[in-house]
Amino acid sequence: MESIWAAETKIRRRESLPGDGETEAVIIGAGLTGILAAYYLKQAGLQAVVLEADRIGSGQTGNTTAKITSQHGLVYHRLIRVFGREMAAHYAMANENAIEEYERLVREKGIACDFTRDFACLYSQREESILQQEAEAAESLGIGASFQRESGLPFPVAGVTRFERQARFHPLKFLAAMAEEVTVYEQTKALRVEGQKVETEKGCVRAEHIIFACHFPFINVPGYYFARMYQERSYVAAWEGTGQREGMYLGIEPGALSFRPQGKLLFLGGGGHRTGKNSQGGQYEGLRHKAGMVYPDGREIAHWSAQDCMTLDGIPYIGRFSAKRPGWYVATGFGKWGMTSAMVSAQILTALATGRECPEKDIFSPRRRFTAGAAKKLACHGGHTAKGLAKHFLPSGEGDIIPNCPHMGCRLEWNPEEESYDCPCHGSRFGRKGQLVDGPAQTGCRRKNE
Ligand code: FES
Repeated sequence: MESIWAAETKIRRRESLPGDGETEAVIIGAGLTGILAAYYLKQAGLQAVVLEADRIGSGQTGNTTAKITSQHGLVYHRLIRVFGREMAAHYAMANENAIEEYERLVREKGIACDFTRDFACLYSQREESILQQEAEAAESLGIGASFQRESGLPFPVAGVTRFERQARFHPLKFLAAMAEEVTVYEQTKALRVEGQKVETEKGCVRAEHIIFACHFPFINVPGYYFARMYQERSYVAAWEGTGQREGMYLGIEPGALSFRPQGKLLFLGGGGHRTGKNSQGGQYEGLRHKAGMVYPDGREIAHWSAQDCMTLDGIPYIGRFSAKRPGWYVATGFGKWGMTSAMVSAQILTALATGRECPEKDIFSPRRRFTAGAAKKLACHGGHTAKGLAKHFLPSGEGDIIPNCPHMGCRLEWNPEEESYDCPCHGSRFGRKGQLVDGPAQTGCRRKNE
């Protein structure tokens, strides 16, 4: 089922790349990150074009819950402990500034996208001290945050960590307006990138700066993003009749519901698992059951799912793609925080491409310090990949396709809920007939009779 955003928004079609060309910056991917990067590069005086394999906003931007927040789960206490106060403050301020910049753009351009300032809370039904600690950490970094015992939720909580002046909006209305400011070629899939040349089905584009804003970079080497990132799926349902009109809430306990109002609706989020690990299904049913316990008079009117790239240390990779490719840049690994991270990416990548000072760049750099926590995650990620690869030569089963991932060969797992073949290694997804749904794979699956 498509998201509420996608069902409500029609974005004007663009032509495909008309042939070979040259420009100063080329951006691969016309989601929010790509469009904003192109906009700020253009503002900085660079010629920029965006290449999109499908349509503007057809990827993850249309499936988000569209929260614009510096509150990203329990992050600030950990960041101070692991990276130090200065780096943690850069993370905090980059995200706080992103919220301000969205508001400035919306006002300056008069974009009707339901932009609303709202508070955001982490809640727990048991853990008071962790929430207090997080509120103190965030406040010490300059965020308007506090611990409170009361919440606006219809069930008792031990407390909340509340961030003030966060925001939410309609992501596709905003994207549609911003896309009018830049040059985008749709139905123009980037197939290869060599040196400063992007090869597509419709022609080649040469550029001094090449930005990968395509969710999961499809180039394996250099960069090795496949080895330090995996993907997760999460589930959202839009309910009416709940009565909740303000406040975004995220539970810190595994399996807790999240809440995000939108007009008369309330978006309830829950479930979530590594992509390729849902062979039993039941995610929507579980979400429905939990929501019904909280809002017995409510009713679901839509549901959809999202796919997120998760890094080893929970911080996005934004910056230079690899030391071996000085003109390449990447923005990926946003976790569940795609909207704010898109704006942070656009600001950092524009600064890098134009040689402007940007103190926030170090904490997001793909080449930042490797932490002990990241090492543990790396081992776990490696274990999943090894298992997926080990099944490569097992019999293919009954379907028409060979269920091995064209990315690196892992055995795909059938996801009955979404009727897709999903890869547990790096999260590529394929339709019933093997057609590509999500990368990093670049092609569909092979059929048995091929
Ligand atoms: Fe990498 Fe499937 S996504 S092997």
